[in-house]
Amino acid sequence: MDLTGNTILVTGGGSGIGRGLAEALHRAGNRVVIAGRRLEALRAVAEANPGIEYLRLDLAEPDGIGRLAAELPGRHPGLNVVVNNAGVMRTEDLLTGDPALPEIAGMTVAVNLLGPMRLTAALLPTLLGQPRAAIVNVTSALAFVPKALAPTYSATKAGLHAYTQSLRRQLRRTPIQVIEIIPPQVETDMLAGRERGPTAMSLKAFVAETMSLLRSQPDADEIVVDAAKRVRFAVRDGHYDDVFDSVNP
Ligand SMILES: NC(=O)c1ccc[n+]([C@@H]2O[C@H](COP(=O)([O-])OP(=O)(O)OC[C@H]3O[C@@H](n4cnc5c(N)ncnc54)[C@H](OP(=O)(O)O)[C@@H]3O)[C@@H](O)[C@H]2O)c1
Repeated sequence: MDLTGNTILVTGGGSGIGRGLAEALHRAGNRVVIAGRRLEALRAVAEANPGIEYLRLDLAEPDGIGRLAAELPGRHPGLNVVVNNAGVMRTEDLLTGDPALPEIAGMTVAVNLLGPMRLTAALLPTLLGQPRAAIVNVTSALAFVPKALAPTYSATKAGLHAYTQSLRRQLRRTPIQVIEIIPPQVETDMLAGRERGPTAMSLKAFVAETMSLLRSQPDADEIVVDAAKRVRFAVRDGHYDDVFDSVNP
C-alpha cells in the first residue's frame, strides 16, 4: 500500500490503535476520516489533528453501516482505503452460567466480525471504482492462539483472519489490496485492568513499527511486528502447545 495520497476511513479511530494509526496516516499525507460511537473521543482526535474528520458509527447497527456507506463516498469521493480496526474484548467465564454470556458473545461477534464484513461489503463498490485501494483488517495474535479467558473475542479474530484471506483471494484481480495487521498485546484502553504479558508493547512503539513495516513492505499481506511473531507463527514453527500454555498460564 502506498502510504501517501489516500483517503482513509479508520473505524475505532477515537482511541488506541485506531487513533495511533489515524494520526500517523494523517501525518504521512493522507486524508483521514475516523469513526466510532463516542463523539467526544472522535472530536478530541479531530481537534488535536486539524484535517482529520469524524463520523458516528456503531458497527453493531447494520442500518448505520449502510447509511455511512451511502453517505461517505459523496462526502469523500476519493475514499480508497478502509481500516477495519474497531473491536471489543470481553472476558467470559463460561462456567458461571451468567445469563449475560450469550449477549456478550453476540455483541462481540456483531462488532468484531460482522461489523468489518458488513462495512467491507457496503464500501466494496466504491473501492472497486478507485485506481488503487486497500482494505486493512486489524485482527490479533489471538487469532492464531486463542486466549481461553476471551473465547468469543479469540474466535472473532480467527474468523476475521479467515475472512481476510478469502477476501484477498477473491479480490486478487482487482486494484484492491487486502492487508491484515496482527497486533500483539498493546497498551490501550482494551488492556485496562488486564495482565500484561512479557511482549506487551507501548502504543507508540506499536504504531511506529507498524508504519515502518507498511512503508518497507508495501505488498505485504500481513503486518506482524516482532513482538507478535512467536504467537502468529506458532504452528509454522512447531511450538503451538508451548505458546498456548504461555498465552493461557
Ligand atoms: N490492545 C491490544 O492488546 C490489542 C491486541 C490485538 C488486537 N487488538 C485490536 O486492535 C483494535 C483496536 O483496539 P485497541 O486496543 O485500540 O482498543 P480501544 O482503544 O478500546 O479501541 C477500540 C475502538 O473500537 C471502537 N468500537 C468499539 N465498539 C464499537 C462499535 N460498536 N462501533 C464502532 N466502533 C466501536 C471504540 O470506539 P467507541 O467506543 O467510541 O465506539 C474504540 O475506539 C481492536 O480490533 C482490537 O481487537 C488490540
